[in-house]
Amino acid sequence: MDTQVVIIGGGPSGLLLSQLLNRAGIATVVLERSTREHVLSRIRAGILEWGSVEMLREAGVGTRMDAEGFPHDGTYITDADLMVHIDFKELTGKRVMVYGQTEVTQDLYQAQDRMGTSIIHGVEDVQILDLDGPVAKVEYTLNGERKSLTCAYVAGCDGFHGVSRKTIPEEKRREFERVYPFGWLGILSRTPPVNDELIYANSPHGFALASMRNANLVRYYVQVPLADKVEDWSDDRFWSEFKRRIPSQAAERLITGPSIEKSIAPLRSFVSEPLRWGRLFLVGDAAHIVPPTGAKGLNLAVSDVFYLHQALIEALKHGSENGVDSYSERALRRIWKAMRFSWQMTTMLHRFEGEDSFAEQMRRATLAHLAESETARKDLAENYVGLPY
Ligand code: FAD
Ligand code: PHB
Repeated sequence: MDTQVVIIGGGPSGLLLSQLLNRAGIATVVLERSTREHVLSRIRAGILEWGSVEMLREAGVGTRMDAEGFPHDGTYITDADLMVHIDFKELTGKRVMVYGQTEVTQDLYQAQDRMGTSIIHGVEDVQILDLDGPVAKVEYTLNGERKSLTCAYVAGCDGFHGVSRKTIPEEKRREFERVYPFGWLGILSRTPPVNDELIYANSPHGFALASMRNANLVRYYVQVPLADKVEDWSDDRFWSEFKRRIPSQAAERLITGPSIEKSIAPLRSFVSEPLRWGRLFLVGDAAHIVPPTGAKGLNLAVSDVFYLHQALIEALKHGSENGVDSYSERALRRIWKAMRFSWQMTTMLHRFEGEDSFAEQMRRATLAHLAESETARKDLAENYVGLPY
């Protein structure tokens, strides 16, 4: 065999899996379609559950995160001027970490370089073969030349549009999907955060989120119709829309500035079952997508990697297939709970085009209940900081 595990995709899930396996003495090859610069330029998630923080430390990539990340003990969920504080620390004893996906990915690339692992960029036309035999094979094109690798297992970490999920025969897959009728327009701006903790805001004008990366870099979002294009949104238009959606107490403090990145992401819930097909395992966005409202996308990728790295170590070091046999079921149990939470947060905080007046009252009543009930706040906090692995 050419290597033990071929990992398709060098995003956060592929890199973290490679890092954990190599540290355990298992040989891997990562095949990534894009350049490293391109992977590192994608602005995505910003919040790590504490379980993810611990996983990154265990993988030997926690030093910069611990020095430069910002632990947050709570968040605000707001409805017009009503600001409900969710005190994670008091309600669950846990906190979350503000540390961008770009930073996590960069730390992983650097750690992989130090270990001298194999990451091949610029691969095209990846094909996964022989998944039901004793040795799997992955073919790909690099610089116009067709190449192949044999291995014991293949990890499909290639995101929603990758090849891995589609390698599983359609009749063997079950897909569950909910597409939401809006997207998020996000901007990055070198300005101080409007609040010391994140604000998830419901308003008569739609949803807004005030997030951050550091003391002088913010990530703010507004809900927009699916048909909107980035070109429709000048910085001025963004700021005035954002300002009228967050509580007025916060809006008074808002400091605006030029955007340095602006993008629109559609919102979707999606799960493909099972996560295993012979010698292939699906991990992260290759298997499931959540709307970003619960900050779960990256964190679910990390928990999948947690289950799969244990299973692969058990199989390749100790000859036991129990872990690989139960990977799909174990990971899916946690995935579905995060699906539910992300869907509920999305429903609680967004205006749906054409909704009736009853829907708005339900949203407001849910938020009023959150303000008055510690039980409701505790439920939200428990899910937000991350359910146990
Ligand atoms: P990805 O990050 O998608 O990585 C997959 C990798 O595989 C990529 O590098 C890709 O180039 C590579 N690849 C794809 N196809 C192939 C192929 N055929 N061959 C080889 N390589 C291939 N989550 C949040 O929690 N908060 C957010 O605000 C948030 N915003 C997001 C915005 C966008 C636009 C998107 C798409 C996702 C966002 N997410 C967010 C989700 C979060 O970023 C993902 O859950 C996370 O990136 C999953 O990591 P992954 O490694 O599984 O997949
Ligand atoms: C972000 O900072 O990009 C972010 C934070 C929380 C979310 C989604 C995105 O729920």
